[in-house]
This record gives sequence, structure tokens and C-alpha cells, in this order.
Amino acid sequence: MLSIYTRIARRQLLRQTTHRLLPRRDFTIAIDGPAASGKSSTARAVAQELGFGYIDSGSIYRCATLLALRQNITDTGEGIGSLADLISHAKVDIKVRPSKSHQTPSLGRLAVPDVQVLLDGEDVSREIRTPEVNRLVAKIASDSSIREAVLHIQRKLAADAESRSTTSRSVDAEDMPGGVVMDGRDIGTTIFPGAELKIYLDASAMARAIRRWDEMNQMKDVPVQKPAHDPEASAAPAAVYPSVEEIARELEARDYADINRENSPLRIAPDAVVIDNTNLTFAQQVYTITDLARERMGLEPKHSDC
Ligand code: CDP
Ligand code: CDP
Repeated sequence: MLSIYTRIARRQLLRQTTHRLLPRRDFTIAIDGPAASGKSSTARAVAQELGFGYIDSGSIYRCATLLALRQNITDTGEGIGSLADLISHAKVDIKVRPSKSHQTPSLGRLAVPDVQVLLDGEDVSREIRTPEVNRLVAKIASDSSIREAVLHIQRKLAADAESRSTTSRSVDAEDMPGGVVMDGRDIGTTIFPGAELKIYLDASAMARAIRRWDEMNQMKDVPVQKPAHDPEASAAPAAVYPSVEEIARELEARDYADINRENSPLRIAPDAVVIDNTNLTFAQQVYTITDLARERMGLEPKHSDC
């Protein structure tokens, strides 16, 4: 299966004549796709493998949505201007910490770093993934003033991550450029249209819903903390976890909103490599992408046999 896929990806690669083959600094990988298609975990593992920085652009829209909920803003009408102002003055930090490995039968262990999202110093990593944020985020992200504010945060975080990856890398003697992997909906089309490698990750709606349900169930054991912005608050009530069908409906509604909005809708960039990972293992998709990146950097692929 994968060898067929790898051949197709290579053919797509050869057809694209605009990419650069020479090693250079600042290699950008854009990973776009619908909700729960594996963008963020794949992007983190790819960044770890290549020694690149990583930016989860969705988490910035989620931070904006959390701020909206805290301000009782639930629509893009009144109040959205002040929300855009709030997010543009907020400090969003995405901290990557090397962590758990995915055990894969044929390809060994693959590190997927944990990501911590800080909003003005507060750890909001869990709070930005609640069902309330899931329901509102696509609406908030459809507003042009919010997108404009988030775009500046994205580019600044990318520049910081890129320079960190260039100065702190420990990747052996190869002439490896510094770089950044960013995932989202419009990274290859709007944020970094000149990205050296663009990936569009997709999977069937049911596979995506089941993966998200699995993730939520794994999180059930993690105790919910009191919100740091309100230490007087009583502990948060136990979350109600949705069924696979409910998750599928939520993902479908969010994808519909993301594809059909006016500003930077979710689209496949013409020069993107499309990977449907419904039947791929996690390691297969990660190594396919790292090998494509290595080829475009003028380096030998490492997993050409997968
Ligand atoms: O992880 P998941 O795919 O569920 O979503 P996410 O990447 O955290 O993104 C949450 C939402 O933010 C998306 O549904 C989009 O509405 C919005 N988003 C966007 O508009 N543009 C991006 N580059 C990233 C996210
Ligand atoms: O960022 P996005 O919402 O697109 O997806 P994610 O948060 O990375 O979640 C996708 C989940 O599917 C993660 O738990 C992955 O480990 C899992 N997965 C995958 O991404 N690719 C596969 N081929 C199999 C599982």
C-alpha cells in the first residue's frame, strides 16, 4: 500500500518543477487539511524528525475563541472588533516538549512531542479543546479582522521557531537547513504560499471521528484543573464526552464552515501533495513527508523502502 503511495507521491514531486533542490536555510512545510485528519500530530513528529520548529495555527484561533467565550462573545457581530484587538495584544506561546513515542510494529518508535499552549502565560492547552471552543472556533475564525490579527501572530511565531531550529539543532553533520512546520487550513494557500513543501492531509470522515473519540477517551483520566484566570472558581464540572456520531457531526459542521467561508477557506493548494491517510499508519505518513522534505532539501531520503 505504502510503496504504491510513495511512488505516486514521488511522481507528484517530479511533476512539480518550481521547487528548489539546493540546500537552503528556512525550509517551510505547510500541512493543511480538514479537522482531525492528523495534521497536528503528524506536523509535530515531522518537526521532531527534521529538527524544525513547529506551530499549531489552529491553537491560535482556539485561543481567540477562548477569549471570546470569556467575554461572552458568541457571534461575529458586535464585539468582534474588540476581540481582534484583544488577541492581537495577547501573547500566545506554543511550547514543544519532546515526549511520548508512537509504537509502530514495522517502523520502530516515533517521537510525537507534546505541545503546551500559553495565553498570556496561562496554560490553556486543555481549555482550548473543550466542546464549547470546538463549536465556536470556526465562526470566530471566519472573521477577517480575527484572521488578520492571527496572521501576524503566526508569522512571528514561525520566525522565532525557525531561528530557534537553526541555532539549537543537534542534527548531525548533514547540511540541514533550519525550518518550521506549520499546520492549519490556509497555510499553503495564504500564510506561506511559497512554502517549500505543502501537504494536504485527508482521511475518511469516520476514521477522523473515531481517532478524535479515541483521543478524548485517553484524556478522560487527566484531572481537570481550576481555570488559572479565576483561582476562586470551584473545580470545573466533569466534562460530558460526545459519542463518535456526535463528533462526526461536529467535524462535518466545522469542515463545512471552513470550506465555505469567504476569508482563506480550506482549499488544496495547486502544488500540494495530497495524502489520504485513512489506511496509512502514523509512521508511514510521517516518513513519507520527511522523505519528501529531505529530497527537496537535496538530501538522501531515509525511508525509501516504506
Ligand atoms: O485540530 P482540529 O483539526 O480539530 O482543529 P484546529 O487545527 O485546532 O483548528 C480549529 C479551527 O481553527 C478550524 O476548524 C478553523 O476554523 C480554524 N483554523 C483556521 O481557520 N485556519 C487555520 N490555519 C487553522 C485553524
Ligand atoms: O490536527 P488534526 O486535528 O488534523 O489531527 P490530530 O489532532 O493530529 O489528531 C489525529 C489523531 O489521529 C492523532 O491521535 C493521531 O495519532 C491519529 N492518527 C493519525 O494522525 N494518522 C494515522 N494514520 C493514524 C492515526
